[in-house]
Amino acid sequence: MAQSSDAKSIPSEEGIAAHLLPLGAHADEGGRLVVGGVRVDDLAAEFGTPFFLYDEDHLRARCREIVAVFGRGAAFASKSFLTKAMARLAFEEGMALDVSTGGELEVVLAAGVPGEYIILHGNNKSFAELERAVEAGVGRIVVDSFDEIERLGAIGDLGRAKLSIRVNPSVEAHTHEFVMTGQEDSKFGLSLASGAADRAIEALRDRFGDIADGAHAHIGSQIVELSGFEREIEIVAPFVKRHSLREFVIGGGLGVAYLNDEFAPSLSHWAQEITAACQRSGIADDVAIGVEPGRAIVATAGMTCYRIGTIKEIAGYRTYVAIDGGMSDNPRPVLYGSGYEAFLARSMHAKRPRPVRIVGKHCESGDVIVSDGRLPDDAVVGDLLVTPVTGAYGFSMASNYNRVPRPPVIFVANGSARVVVRRESIEDLLRLEP
Ligand code: LLP
Repeated sequence: MAQSSDAKSIPSEEGIAAHLLPLGAHADEGGRLVVGGVRVDDLAAEFGTPFFLYDEDHLRARCREIVAVFGRGAAFASKSFLTKAMARLAFEEGMALDVSTGGELEVVLAAGVPGEYIILHGNNKSFAELERAVEAGVGRIVVDSFDEIERLGAIGDLGRAKLSIRVNPSVEAHTHEFVMTGQEDSKFGLSLASGAADRAIEALRDRFGDIADGAHAHIGSQIVELSGFEREIEIVAPFVKRHSLREFVIGGGLGVAYLNDEFAPSLSHWAQEITAACQRSGIADDVAIGVEPGRAIVATAGMTCYRIGTIKEIAGYRTYVAIDGGMSDNPRPVLYGSGYEAFLARSMHAKRPRPVRIVGKHCESGDVIVSDGRLPDDAVVGDLLVTPVTGAYGFSMASNYNRVPRPPVIFVANGSARVVVRRESIEDLLRLEP
């Protein structure tokens, strides 16, 4: 099995592989891309480009897949893709919501998710964030430091909130260094190896009693090799048993395929492996096991649609195809060297023999979306170019670099489209300045 896209595979000449597309994507009789019953070229005509497009049924299917195993013990990691519509959808489908900042908390609350189904994370939560979370009645706070224990103590009555310790298990997952979180040298959590995690749970119990009843670990993101999760469970299980904890959350981190030749385990397979590993490690049946997937819920449901604006052949080097977005809507290639596929919306199954570099419109050479991409030979200026598997950490990490307005987010289902986030306007770009 190919590893994550960060392992730098190169897109193939073949047409786009079906497993990189949302469930509701197909080609019409003319070979044009249709998602959720809506033609993507019609969306471009109506809403302009670029835009983020999500297949709502695909999102719902992924939520249901994990809820079937863990119920509300499955929390959607909102950082991967957060809009009010997404928070509502995940909640409607039976998931809880994980937030890692006061900002994410406000969006999830604004979506109408009741506080008791919200879990607050963060390695540096401020007093104000903790206070607001308690006031909003969040169901659980995952404590990440001794400083935070002091802050919680100063708040006093924590309302409905139960408490977990973010444990650092010292497991190095097979993934990009920037998205590993479980190694000993990390800003996240309290180390098991040094005894800090044990001291922290004891301090919480002294101060707050039985509400300190959970362990939480998260070893990284875009992980397709499941052995890391098994190792995490083996290492944290004795801590759960030693303190008679009632809840054990394994975190998120399940990876997805970004390129034609990559494959990733399904959410249900991951869930089975986690459940089996917990049993093998002697976690009692009455301990609630939970997970927090983000990417595996939303990545493949989403794609980005751009328009090609210029094509430059640099003799002896390569062809640059420039689209009307770039690192401001997808910083992942620049940040992590992540690979993506690309295809034309008018000929989704066409072969892609032409090697190209797909770049954005930002004022720097590093603004690359697909470094070694491939397109059909007949790609021309004005074509709609689609990058699939951009549903996670694209919109959520988008910026206004070069004062480029952020694209809208469009959900499609049953033949109709709805704009869940509108395109930013020039007024939006200027609104913070007097
Ligand atoms: N839970 C915790 C505590 C986390 O820190 C994260 C992700 C998740 C759950 C969700 O992980 P997922 O299932 O999405 O892998 N910006 C990077 C990814 C950063 C992930 C941060 N934490 C990227 O674009 O690859």
